[in-house]
Amino acid sequence: MKDLDDLRAEALKGGGEERIKRQHEAGKLTARERIDLLLDPDTFQEIGMFVTHRCHDFGMEKKKILGDGVVTGYGQIHGRLVYIFAEDFTVFGGSLSKAYAEKICKIQELALKNGAPIIGLKDSGGARIQEGVDSLAGYADFFLRNVLASGVIPQISAIMGPCAGGAVYSPALTDFVFMVKKTSYMFLTGPDVIKAATHEEVTFEELGGAMVHNTKSGVAHFAADSEEECLAMIRKLLTFLPQNNLEDPPRSECHDPIDRMDESLDTIVPEDPTKPYDMKDVIKKVVDDGDFFEVHEHFAPNIITGFARLDGQPIGIVANQPAYLAGVLDTLSSAKGARFVRFCDCFNIPLVVFEDVPGFLPGVSQEHSGVIKEGAKLLYAFCEATVPRLTVITRKAYGGAYCVMNSKHIRADINFAWPTGQIAVMGAEGAVNILYRKELKQASDPEKLRQKLIKEYNEKFNNPYISASLGYIDDVIKPHETRLKLILALRSIENKRDRNPPKKHGNIPL
Ligand code: HXC
Repeated sequence: MKDLDDLRAEALKGGGEERIKRQHEAGKLTARERIDLLLDPDTFQEIGMFVTHRCHDFGMEKKKILGDGVVTGYGQIHGRLVYIFAEDFTVFGGSLSKAYAEKICKIQELALKNGAPIIGLKDSGGARIQEGVDSLAGYADFFLRNVLASGVIPQISAIMGPCAGGAVYSPALTDFVFMVKKTSYMFLTGPDVIKAATHEEVTFEELGGAMVHNTKSGVAHFAADSEEECLAMIRKLLTFLPQNNLEDPPRSECHDPIDRMDESLDTIVPEDPTKPYDMKDVIKKVVDDGDFFEVHEHFAPNIITGFARLDGQPIGIVANQPAYLAGVLDTLSSAKGARFVRFCDCFNIPLVVFEDVPGFLPGVSQEHSGVIKEGAKLLYAFCEATVPRLTVITRKAYGGAYCVMNSKHIRADINFAWPTGQIAVMGAEGAVNILYRKELKQASDPEKLRQKLIKEYNEKFNNPYISASLGYIDDVIKPHETRLKLILALRSIENKRDRNPPKKHGNIPL
């Protein structure tokens, strides 16, 4: 037992005092410190502590460190089982050997077989160069298990240091990617290679820092100011998620009255249909305790995605944001929405949609960058979703975007509109210009005629009652009663059973 104690003490030191000091000086925690902060106190059970690499080249046989650069095991978050691996930069720069990959694969298989989330804390120089193709094989083994676990257990990655080369594909295959500002970066090829290949000069941060991947590429879903904040955000995210695809997400007690009426919602939509308002205000006024956990906050803000609760039931929210680009759907927002809808559908999380959308964004660059294909992703995602689905149209629901945004026609369960709802092929002005082009040209006072026709069009189409008369809207509700109406609707469909035709898998337009 003395030997065991000594070996354990040695393993806990990782790459040694000096490297731990350097890790701290770089503003980073060690793998074990991160695990301690992430998990409930004293719940971590490490496995694979005595694994070492098996490389005999480049003098590596003389450099063996217990655990070999990754700490693996299981523990609890809010009393629920999770599997974890944390890359240890103090050991060979966290680089991945075959033995290291085997440790991760073992954890991935345990997580999959036992139906619990897996969290990877990434901090690595990539493939262990001394091991050559063995290291690449290790990565491929790791990627395969990411894919097999996709849609079965939640997979979460946090980038807390370098993540470069092909190594980036593991986080990209997982459901959510967190990054820490200033100390983490991700890229396929680094600044030196880029300079040689394209003569572009760029820093690590400009190339693949946290905000780059949160705002531009969309690779990352969350940006934290510090490692502590990042780990706390992961804990919070898990409160909305089931352990696996066969479970329902965890309900919590609801202390917010279900019949809380918020009169301020009645005036939140401006009289002028061209004026914006913040859809996040609507969301926060409706959900339990105003608690909205936004996903992909910094990317394509014209669509909002995130988790909240209604009556203690976790829900996924997808909403247009009139305060950004008028809430229009474009390539980026469509893909963002689609991925979120699919995540919720995988994990039995009901979807609630708040809709105020003027349509898809017109423009040559949008068409050339594939808005047809990207918009089809969102359409596809909603069409195939079998979870309980609710919609509230707060204002505009125009054109193709009406069909796409969780309309009844594509299997939404209960669709509400506020009295301010406008459901039409397009807005009044555009419609009148097309329908009455000749008349307007010939009129003695075209502006007067235009205004008259716009008024007539608005009276006919820019309200929710035609849609309600056709049954495309189930009810027109007062904005202040939205919370209660949504909760009662959600309760009525909580045992919903729906399924898609049997198939190997669909072919979403990628
Ligand atoms: C072996 C590595 C290593 C690696 C770092 N180290 N990366 N050892 N294989 N890939 C070692 C260093 O030699 C050093 O050891 C220690 O880790 C710390 O590294 P430093 O360079 O001192 O740290 P820092 O200055 O912070 O720089 C971090 C870094 C840099 C930017 C990550 O180490 C770096 O560029 N590493 C190489 C990155 C890379 O090109 N990886 C391969 C990517 S391709 P000593 O003993 O000197 O302290 C890839 C393919 C995957 O990963 C394909 C999957 C399909």
